[in-house]
Amino acid sequence: MAFPQRFLDELVARNDILDVVSSYVHLTKKGSNYFGLCPFHNEKTPSFSVAPDKQIYHCFGCKKGGGVINFIMEEENLSFPDAVRFLAKRVNMEVPEETGDRESGRLRQRVLELNREAARFYYQNLQQPEGAAVAAYLERRKIHRKTAMDFGLGASLDSWDGLLTAMVAKGFTKEELLAAGLVVQTKQGRLYDKFRSRLMFPVIDIRGDVVGFGGRVLDKSEPKYMNTPETIAYSKRRVLYGMNLAKKSKRPNIILCEGNIDVITMHQAGFDNAVASMGTALTVEQTRLLSRYTKELVLCYDNDGAGKAATQKAIELLNGSEFSVKVLQLPNRIVDGQPVKQDVDDFIKNQGPAAFEALLSGSENHVEYRMAAIAAKHNFADDQDRIAYAAEVSELIAQLPSAVEREVYAGRAAEQSGVSKEAILLEIKRAQRRFYAKEKKIQQRRELNPADQQQPSERSFHYADVRSAMAEEGVIRLLSRDESLFPLCAQLHHEEFSSPLLGKIYGALLAQQEEGQSSHVAGLSAVLTPEEMSHLSLVLQKPESLTNAQQALADYISVIQASYQKRCGDKETDPLLAAQERFQIKKGYGGKQV
Ligand code: GTP
Ligand code: MN
Repeated sequence: MAFPQRFLDELVARNDILDVVSSYVHLTKKGSNYFGLCPFHNEKTPSFSVAPDKQIYHCFGCKKGGGVINFIMEEENLSFPDAVRFLAKRVNMEVPEETGDRESGRLRQRVLELNREAARFYYQNLQQPEGAAVAAYLERRKIHRKTAMDFGLGASLDSWDGLLTAMVAKGFTKEELLAAGLVVQTKQGRLYDKFRSRLMFPVIDIRGDVVGFGGRVLDKSEPKYMNTPETIAYSKRRVLYGMNLAKKSKRPNIILCEGNIDVITMHQAGFDNAVASMGTALTVEQTRLLSRYTKELVLCYDNDGAGKAATQKAIELLNGSEFSVKVLQLPNRIVDGQPVKQDVDDFIKNQGPAAFEALLSGSENHVEYRMAAIAAKHNFADDQDRIAYAAEVSELIAQLPSAVEREVYAGRAAEQSGVSKEAILLEIKRAQRRFYAKEKKIQQRRELNPADQQQPSERSFHYADVRSAMAEEGVIRLLSRDESLFPLCAQLHHEEFSSPLLGKIYGALLAQQEEGQSSHVAGLSAVLTPEEMSHLSLVLQKPESLTNAQQALADYISVIQASYQKRCGDKETDPLLAAQERFQIKKGYGGKQV
């Protein structure tokens, strides 16, 4: 169900984009626009801009953009209707009745209440004789009572309907239990508890809501963990286990570990800045969450193959981001003269918190980590291999921005491999030259082909006729800046646009104008997809002079119509294309409202 356009226009008008964005991003004024670090991708220099006059934002780095509703959708991870509701609440506006989405909001609320009751239920079990096995397990893992309480740990029962019965008695429906992912339905339609005989970890988000659960078996059976599936309240890409506590830490950084138990052990040992991504690779959504609290991450994954792969992936994701990243490599433990791999939980329990603190303060940054990874692949006793190492490590060092850093790491690589520092520095120079040559080639190609620069980055929006599309963009820019120009467009039809997307935008602007609505482009988020809005924001960011706007508009229109005529002419010689075109024109512009 759609919101009335009138309501959306007022909503957009009352939520000034500068006010809204400023509460998330630190903005600095430059000319008539404002700039800041983009909240949607990792960057060190600001490429995120807000144009208060047009009420839009646009990032020149990640190409995201749109109006205030798009911003909230992206920043708060909300659907369109939820973003609208969010903004309405912000300015105390009443939202017109909207049954479908209202209900989904209500269901989410019920699921959160149910999760909280379920967490309470599991927690109480743990204090009862029924929870003795889990209590014994916690003791074996050296998790203290107080820590268990801080994390709200609990016990699911050795029963098919322990939780089901208790929650139904509290007034929750089967639909709500299913929506929370707490019960599973058989083919015959019977319900049973998803979590049985497990140590239960409630997953609590930064607002303090119990969004889901993890459950660990007490023995060696499989699967070791069961987690809440994706639900209306739980998205594993967006949560970090322990973040609700780590966000309050006084430590300067956040430590990323692999397992729930690792997080708990760390907190118990005084490292209350530990979190875990619960068995999945680190996601962009999680880094955005982290960036609200720190700019310094310590990766502390297991030192086995899977942990190393996870570290590598995380480094790649964080590469070029605003975070400084350290990699903490856990040493193997020597048992009976043999090296044994260990995770942080083992390390802290075997070597103690002080040893971990020492490791933490000396933890290597990611350059060293990657150098070590390269070194591990080569045998320094072999000449051929030493040369291969020097080439590979130089490739890595060449990418470092600072000359001092390159000097330092070249020295270290020389020391490690026995290749002279001079030779390594020479290799680095070569690698840099190759890199610059490549850059230059790309740059030249770009300059040789200016039409390419005008192409939208989103492939499906590709302009088939760049010249016409540039004029179409101009029309849209002028109309969105000066409403008095609309009457001059009476003879320009959206079918004449060469770009279907620009035609659609133009049609939507006309429709908005005909209905007598304010023509805030931000109000178009109801008819355009977020990708389309992003493209529109890019179009609007391009310069356009308003002096002699009428003449400019007339010129644009004649370019568009001439190109259109030419395309029609081309098609006349091709009966199939001509027929297709006629068909499209007949269909016309129908999508002015969704
Ligand atoms: P311990 O082995 O008891 O120390 O557990 P751990 O919490 O350290 O877990 P581990 O390092 O084995 O795994 C890391 C994380 O991945 C766990 O905390 C879970 O969140 C997740 N995980 C592990 N095994 C499974 C599984 O079988 N299924 C799912 N869905 N997730 C798992
Ligand atoms: Mn573990």
